[in-house]
Amino acid sequence: MPDLARRVTVLDLAAAKRDRRPFTMVTAYDWPTGQLADAAGVDCVLVGDSVAMVVAGRSSTIPATLEQMIYHGEIVSRAVSRALVVVDLPFPLQHLGVRTAVESSARLLKETGCQAVKLEGTAGQADIIAGIAAAGIPVMGHVGLRPQAVHQLGGYRMQRDLDRLMADAEAAAHAGAFAVVLECVPQEAAATITRSLSVPTVGIGAGPHCDGQVLVMHDLIGLSSGRVPRFVRAYADVQATVGDALARWRRDVENRSFPGPDETLG
Ligand code: KIV
Repeated sequence: MPDLARRVTVLDLAAAKRDRRPFTMVTAYDWPTGQLADAAGVDCVLVGDSVAMVVAGRSSTIPATLEQMIYHGEIVSRAVSRALVVVDLPFPLQHLGVRTAVESSARLLKETGCQAVKLEGTAGQADIIAGIAAAGIPVMGHVGLRPQAVHQLGGYRMQRDLDRLMADAEAAAHAGAFAVVLECVPQEAAATITRSLSVPTVGIGAGPHCDGQVLVMHDLIGLSSGRVPRFVRAYADVQATVGDALARWRRDVENRSFPGPDETLG
C-alpha cells in the first residue's frame, strides 16, 4: 500500500488486487508484536485464534474464546495505527446462527477497536458472512485448511479438492466477504480461485499466485516452538537470540559480573 500516513482500508486491498500489487498480513497478539508489524509497513495485522497455540501453548486453535480474542484484539488495535486490524471469530461462533455471529462480531468491533473480523467456513457459512456484512462489519473468509476443523479434516493437511475450494471461496465472496484466506491449497488451485474471485485472496501455504500473503508472526521471526510448516520462511531466529541473551545474563549473575558499577544506582 503506498500511503504510509493513513489507515489501510478494505478498499485499498481491492485496489491492490486490481493493480496486481501483492499485499501483506501478519499475525500479532500483543503490544510489541502489533507495534513491530505496523512499523514494518505490513498492510493488515491479524489477531488470529492461533494465539491459543502460539501464545498459550495449546495444541489447536479450538480452545480460543471470544473473551481472549477481545483481550488480545484490544491491545493490538491500540498498538497499530496504520494497518487494517482483523480479529478472528473463534470456534464455534460462526456455527450458531446469524444472530450469534453478528453479536460476537459486533463485540469484536466495538470492544477491540479493530476494523474487520475473519471467520473460517465453507459454503455452509455463506448466510453467516452475509449477515455480518449486512450489519456493516467487514468480514474476511477463510477456506481450504480450516484449523478449527482439524479433527474433521484428519490433520493439518493440504486441501486438494478444487471444486470444493472454489465453491467455498466463491460462496464467501458472493456473501460479501471483502477478502478470502486460502490456507494450504495447491498453487494451481490458488491461482484459479484468485483469477475467478472479484475480491482479493490471501494465501498461507498456497503458493505465489494469491493477491496477498499471510504468515504467523512467530513462525516468520523464528519464535515458534515445535514443528514449523514447510511453507514458512523464517526471517530471523529470535528463539536463539533470546535464549542466548538469557543464558549470558544468568552466567553474569552467577559469576557476579552483573550488576556492575554502571547498573548499580548509588
Ligand atoms: O489464526 C491465524 O493465525 C490464522 C492465519 C493462519 C491465517 O488464521
